[in-house]
Amino acid sequence: MLIAHITDLHLRTEGEMAFSGHVDTAARLAQTVDFLNGFKPAPDLVLVTGDLVDFGKAEEYANLRRVLDRLQAPAYLIPGNHDNRDNLRRAFPDHAYLPQSGFLHYVVEGHPVRLIGLDTLDQGKVGGLMCPERIAWLDARLAEAGDKPTLLFMHHPPYTTGMVRMDGYACVGGDAMGEVVRRHPQVERVVCGHLHRATVRRWCGTVISSSPATAPEVALNIHGQGIHGWVETPPYVGFYLWQDGGIVSHLTAVDPGKPAHPFVY
Ligand SMILES: [Fe+2]
Ligand SMILES: [Fe+2]
Repeated sequence: MLIAHITDLHLRTEGEMAFSGHVDTAARLAQTVDFLNGFKPAPDLVLVTGDLVDFGKAEEYANLRRVLDRLQAPAYLIPGNHDNRDNLRRAFPDHAYLPQSGFLHYVVEGHPVRLIGLDTLDQGKVGGLMCPERIAWLDARLAEAGDKPTLLFMHHPPYTTGMVRMDGYACVGGDAMGEVVRRHPQVERVVCGHLHRATVRRWCGTVISSSPATAPEVALNIHGQGIHGWVETPPYVGFYLWQDGGIVSHLTAVDPGKPAHPFVY
């Protein structure tokens, strides 16, 4: 099973530039869709972990649909802090896994790895929230499927990174969620977005990581030493390959201007 992961798309309305008018996030997503459609072996599905659009507007979701509809593999969407649950739901009525009301969390069955999408959106806040209701839902979903290998995906990382400004927008309730995860050792991996950077750590008996965005990267800034800003790196895609009883991950930049060259011996 090959799982692809993209995050933090930050689409605006068609033709509108993001990141202070400098970045065509729709073009970057289109480039990423082309890359995924051409990738061999074809991914079984694509996880899309939030900040799908920039302001949660219906017209932005229409633009997202326009680009994402070309994706050949099935996409599984969850919201981030820039999203709006109702507008997201309304734009993707054919995405039957999305609950009709309430939190946009769900389980994807039918694969060697069980996938659980979490909804950390705390509407109006930049940081995320795993409230007792959402944590109880996760606990019940993990309890119902025994030891089947499971991957959780969510927008806000429930751990700090040393990037102090981003740590201020982490996930409230992350520690309580972690206690639930610790009791369910079938959780092979947790993958996040929001940071616009690659990070990884051991966490509550599993491995947790964040991926860079299809939008630009957040500049690396540890303990406030440097700019709190962004860098126009290429879009990134994560892959999670279920193989030999474990999940091995790969991160790769999508940069059509820099093709691969064969080694010559
Ligand atoms: Fe983001
Ligand atoms: Fe975010």
